[in-house]
Amino acid sequence: MYSKTVLERFQNPKNAGSMHGANAIGQVGNAACGDIMKMYLKINENEVIENAKFKTFGCCAAIASTDIACDLIKGKTIDEALKVTNKDVVSLLGELPAHKIHCSILAEESIRAAIENYYKKKEKELKKANKQN
Ligand code: FES
Repeated sequence: MYSKTVLERFQNPKNAGSMHGANAIGQVGNAACGDIMKMYLKINENEVIENAKFKTFGCCAAIASTDIACDLIKGKTIDEALKVTNKDVVSLLGELPAHKIHCSILAEESIRAAIENYYKKKEKELKKANKQN
């Protein structure tokens, strides 16, 4: 049912866990299955993603998808990371059963949610700085 890569990533994810010093955190969920993904990013001043980690309360495919998504965006700029789609995730996983494609979509959405969180924080900081001046 699952590819070798999915099973490997599920059993031994490389990027699992929370991150101390993350400056972007995004959480998404799927109401139908109840799975939740949380993505932690460390984005540097050049808007390059230095590190990505995740926590997933979910299925095997969700864990494997988010783990691969972290690998896909590490070292990329925000703009490049925003171009990563669930198709990229599935292609690295080998394949996913049709009823598990939404797990890879959740991984894509978690990247976007974290980046959105980064921009919101940045906007807040800018507003705060402008008030002080
Ligand atoms: Fe819903 Fe995997 S079954 S994310």
